[in-house]
Amino acid sequence: MATNRIRGNRALLATAMAASLLLGAAGCAREGGAEASKDGGVVHVVCGATEDWCAATTKKFTESTGVKADFVRLSSGEALARIKAGKGNAEFDVWYGGPADGYASAGDEGLLEPYVSPNAGVIPAKYKDPQGVWTGVYVGALGFCSNSKLLTERGIGLPDSWTALLNQKLAKDIGIAHPSTSGTAYTTLWTQVQLAAGDEGKALDYMRKLHPNVLQYTKSGSAPAQMTARGEVAVGVIFAHDCVATMEAGFPDLRLSFPAEGTGYETGGVALVKNAKNPTSARKFVDWALTTEAQEVGPSVKAYQFPTNPGAKVSEKVIPLSGIKMVDYDAVAAGKAKSALNKRFDTEVAQAPKS
Ligand code: F6P
Repeated sequence: MATNRIRGNRALLATAMAASLLLGAAGCAREGGAEASKDGGVVHVVCGATEDWCAATTKKFTESTGVKADFVRLSSGEALARIKAGKGNAEFDVWYGGPADGYASAGDEGLLEPYVSPNAGVIPAKYKDPQGVWTGVYVGALGFCSNSKLLTERGIGLPDSWTALLNQKLAKDIGIAHPSTSGTAYTTLWTQVQLAAGDEGKALDYMRKLHPNVLQYTKSGSAPAQMTARGEVAVGVIFAHDCVATMEAGFPDLRLSFPAEGTGYETGGVALVKNAKNPTSARKFVDWALTTEAQEVGPSVKAYQFPTNPGAKVSEKVIPLSGIKMVDYDAVAAGKAKSALNKRFDTEVAQAPKS
């Protein structure tokens, strides 16, 4: 009797387990089905890399996966503002490129969907968010991009420190972007915070001292490279890879130098936008962006950032990061401080450029 009861109970348990497995499977299929049917087989990317890189990357992604892709190129602060404006009716599915502190800031505002791609395992921990909000796709250091002819005319050498940029001989002779719109410029600002041991007031003091030497705060971070190349300013504070690309575009008088105190660097990110309209395609894009194939696209369009995937080939035009003195740059902390620090910059140093 007792044996029969046990057998009976086992049979009941087995039936219940099978039923619950079936129900679970049906649930999963429903979820997958709902998500798949919600997906239009296209991914809309807000892209913070160069226009050429955004175009080459989305094209290669489509060739590789069969998923359609389009993009809008926006500087970091503008991308963040557009994603925020689209809350509730997302305009974009994925954010790709641009410094990770913008992503960290967006994550804090609940605008991104955490996603740990199965391909993220190979990306070193220092290049990805511990919460999976963003994953790094490239790295690049800030540098000084100088017009050597103009510096000779001013009677000064290549700037080799942040202090050297304060030289009165460089009055209205520096091009730099505005941190409210540009991730490059925010990297510069956060670098000053790091150099001042976390003192934001001191960092803003430095930017106020630099102000008389700034001809113009541009919207996009790489724009000062063109200004320097054309001889409108003697020095541009930009990412080093943007200087290398501009030299290669036909401006051999440009020279690159780095500050002795230490410089900041970006981890260019990729992330899912919250409530994306094409979530399956968006995940495919993130997965693909972490592959060696994706990370080898840059140099074909003069984008010489360092890839985060250790298996990706590194172009000889990429400046080795190991030779540059870097500050300790924590993108998550920088992202948390971003909105308030930029507001202070707006009121205490210079207003953001109008459209
Ligand atoms: O050109 C590319 C680049 O320098 C990227 O490396 C960087 O992430 C992005 O531009 C920053 O652009 P912006 O300063 O305009 O936000």
